[in-house]
Amino acid sequence: MRGATPLIRLRSHGNAYIKFEGTNPTGSFKDRGGMTIGVSLASSIGVKGGVIVASTGNTAASAAAYSARAGLNCIVVLPKGGVAKGKLGQAILHGGASIVDIPGTFDNALEYVLDTVLINGSADHINYYPLNSINPWRLEGQKTIAYEVFEEVGVPDYVFVPVGNGGNIYAIWKGFRELMEHGMIDHVPKMIGVQASGAAPMVRYWNGAGEAKIENPRTIASAIRIGKPVNWFRAYRAVKYSGGAFIEVSDDEIIRAQAMLGKEGIGGVEPASAASLAGYLKALGEGLIGPSDKAVLIATGHALKDPDALLMGNANMISISSINELRNLVMGNAIA
Ligand code: F0G
Repeated sequence: MRGATPLIRLRSHGNAYIKFEGTNPTGSFKDRGGMTIGVSLASSIGVKGGVIVASTGNTAASAAAYSARAGLNCIVVLPKGGVAKGKLGQAILHGGASIVDIPGTFDNALEYVLDTVLINGSADHINYYPLNSINPWRLEGQKTIAYEVFEEVGVPDYVFVPVGNGGNIYAIWKGFRELMEHGMIDHVPKMIGVQASGAAPMVRYWNGAGEAKIENPRTIASAIRIGKPVNWFRAYRAVKYSGGAFIEVSDDEIIRAQAMLGKEGIGGVEPASAASLAGYLKALGEGLIGPSDKAVLIATGHALKDPDALLMGNANMISISSINELRNLVMGNAIA
């Protein structure tokens, strides 16, 4: 368990706060509900096999770690070639995980898992307990993000969330809604779901352009490279009933937002996480929100998860071979 992640005010936009989920034990928000509650539950019901997840990487890293700690087996099913190196490395590190890769996308991986564990729609025979975000316990854990935001800044006007399967945005909204049901707040923030333009089935549905499904999702933000969000209806409800919106951002906007956070000295976020800042900047630019609105941007996973994306940045690397050259740099003189 962790959570209690920092909420950091942006230097460049004083009413925007980054909820930095990279400080969770395996570096993403998945540790909260997914694995803390899900693995505990799997243990308590005495599953014979262990736990199983389909993943774009973070769920796999988290499931591998928490099930190793619980002494349970873990099978992670991944889209071949579609998982960032840091996440794959974490699944390997927590040695109990069997890593299975399949052809296709995350959507195919989830089909493999669900078809395996649910026979005729029933999970009665369960041997391996599925811990994807169709699992309600996952979402119960993730709603603690809302409690923490509330403790620090009350109810913001907007919460920006990168959307893949749609579980997290729903969980955060549910957390706020329950605070309201308990009389602790009198309204909930508007939830803004941000997707990458090449993987934006929710935006498509929101705009009335068809089902919340696309084939061959594409984006640099591999964590949210998802075409058929399993929690699409939950995510839709969260956005609709909070008065929010779904918006899309390009890969370029994502990469620029990632670099901008880096320059602000905020520990670093992976591309999917930077989508929330990219979405915020876009919403500001288009007048959907105003500069005085208080916004919380959920930075879902740590930059180190995806070293290849980091290395695409403009490195300011200078090779030198003598102390004098470094002295020159420090004195503000050009290096020959
Ligand atoms: N951000 C990151 C860093 C993620 O890893 C994910 C999902 C999301 C955002 C989207 O959250 O699916 O609840 O809408 N990652 C999953 C995984 C799919 O397998 O790690 P969502």
